[in-house]
Parts: sequence; structure tokens; C-alpha cells
Amino acid sequence: MKTTKRQAVTKHGDLNGLPADLLAWFDRHGRDLPWRTALGERRDPYRVWLAEIMLQQTTIPHGTPYFLTFTQRWPTVEALAAAKDEEVMTAWAGLGYYARARNLLKCAREIAERGSWPETAAELKKLPGIGPYTAGAIAAIAFNQPAAAVDGNVDRVFARLLALKGNWADEKKRLHAEVERLVPAKRPGDFAEALMDLGATVCTPTKPNCLICPVSDYCLAKAEGEPERYPIKPPKKAKPIRRGAAYVAVHKGEVLLQRRPDKGLLGGMLGLPTSDWVEGERPEPSPPFKASWEEIGDVRHVFTHFDLRLTVQRADVSRRPNADGVWVPLDEVEGLPSVFAKAFRLATAG
Ligand code: ADE
Repeated sequence: MKTTKRQAVTKHGDLNGLPADLLAWFDRHGRDLPWRTALGERRDPYRVWLAEIMLQQTTIPHGTPYFLTFTQRWPTVEALAAAKDEEVMTAWAGLGYYARARNLLKCAREIAERGSWPETAAELKKLPGIGPYTAGAIAAIAFNQPAAAVDGNVDRVFARLLALKGNWADEKKRLHAEVERLVPAKRPGDFAEALMDLGATVCTPTKPNCLICPVSDYCLAKAEGEPERYPIKPPKKAKPIRRGAAYVAVHKGEVLLQRRPDKGLLGGMLGLPTSDWVEGERPEPSPPFKASWEEIGDVRHVFTHFDLRLTVQRADVSRRPNADGVWVPLDEVEGLPSVFAKAFRLATAG
């Protein structure tokens, strides 16, 4: 019997037919992205893994140039494993969440050592930097395993399909179970990417485009008339503000940079010397050496758990002071995390 729209409407909340409809849409409208291959072609687990790590907390427009640079420079997991830490951290600069880069290297070295990738989500999850979402995505996309990859996009899509109104932590469990139940045995990777594409291009956070949605007939939130109401989550806590100072020391056309300790925020990255960053009043100045420091202005940066206001101080010195760090020609500065790049630009503009 031919299924008409009218009949499908009576299936609200019953999602059994959804994977087939979604995959038919994906075959025509799936995005062409550099880590994807033609439909049905085998995928390189290295490229799949690299893309998934880079795209955590990062948009596709921002992450794509990094993906292209990395795969050109290190085309295989063995090549990446053999890279120097500093080279990889420098290449990662600007992508943020630097623990990802440190784990990326650890994971690459573990895989190079083992000689192959594990193929199941359970095994993949044991590797550095691979959580449940990434494990599911790699298992499904690279190895055709029946695994689900539930990220914020998929949360939103299913919160709408099922019009989830209860306690979000409980609803999330129900939602995850439902996605897992629906993963089609034949095309689990395409299903995962189809959901990503639907969430990114149709079922968007604001103004979802239900008119072109291939699964709108299943959607309880659309039937209610206000899909953008979902997901209904507890309000976010306000972020605290931290303050501190960053120091741009210039000597004969060179600037003083310091590598940050491996552990902690921006760990392992090259940066400007700074004071501590503290909540409340500005901390006492703590320049890397005594000089006549001039206040240039402020930069702001948003981290996951706090907003940062950094006062940028600059000193030009004629004799090279005794200070920890490396002196780098001003026009060769690269690989700074965004917060330091902003401070550096402010202090050296014009
Ligand atoms: N976001 C995270 N992984 C992705 C992928 N494989 N395709 C598109 N968007 C993504």
C-alpha cells in the first residue's frame, strides 16, 4: 500500500519508518564534505577520526581548513604519530580546546603502535580523547558498525520529533535509547551523517525549516506548532568573569612568548606571559620582568566555563631582559591560541 502523507501523520511519535525516509533524503541532499566519500565507498578511519575530533565544539566552516591542512601535512595516522608535539599544537592553534590536540597525538601514537584501529564503539571509547559520541560516529561511519552518534544536533532533532517535555536528563536517556533502536543495520554511518545534516541544515536551533524536512510527518513538535521550543533544557548558569593581564614584551623586533604547562587551560600552547586569571578584582600585576609597562587596552575571550577580560600591557626594552621563554620575530609569530592572538594584535597594531 502506498503511504500517503495523511497516513504518515497518524504515525506521530512512531519513528520506525524514519530511517528509510531520512536516508532517501540523505542520498539526494547529503552535504559534500572533505572527510566524506561517495556513497557506499569505504571511508578512511584516520580521516573520519580526525574530522570528528576537530568538529567537536567547532563549526564546519571554522574546522574545515584545519582538516585540509592536517591531512595534507600528515596524510596518515602514522605520519601524525611521528610529528613533533609543538608542530601539531601550532597547527591546531585557533581551533580551541587544546586538550583535544594533546589527546589527538596520544591517540595517533597508540594507533600507530597497535598497527590498526579498533572497530567497535566500545573499543574506540578506550582511546584518548574519544568519548561516547565520537566512538559511535567513528564505529558507524568508518566501520559500518550499528552504533549511534548522538550529539547536540541529534538531541535537538529527537527532542522535537518526540516533543520531549520532561526533565532533560531523563529525556536524554530516552532519546539516546530511541536513536540506538533506530540505527539501520545496513547504513549506520549514513544514518549518523544524515542526522547531522538534518540538524545542521533543516532542523536548525532557530527557525527550523519544516517545509522541506523529510521527516516532518513524524514530528510531534511540528504538529504542536512550535518546534523551536525544543529541546527544553534547564537554564544555563551565568558564566563567571575572570580578569588578568597579558604582557607583550618587545626587544629589537622580537616578542617574548612562553610555552604553557602541558596540564590545564591552553596546555602545551605557546602564549604571552600572563598574570593569574581570577574572579573578582583585577589581580596584582605580575610582569615577566621589571620594565616600564604601558597599558594598551583590553581583550575579551569566551571560554567554556568563564569569560576572560585581559588587560594588555606592552613594554619596549633595549636590553634583552632575563626572562623565561623564547624571543620570536614579530612577523613570524604563529600558533597562538585565539586569546593571545587578539592580545598580540592589539599591542602591535598600527
Ligand atoms: N559534525 C561532526 N561530525 C560531522 C560529520 N561527519 N559530518 C558533518 N558534520 C559533522
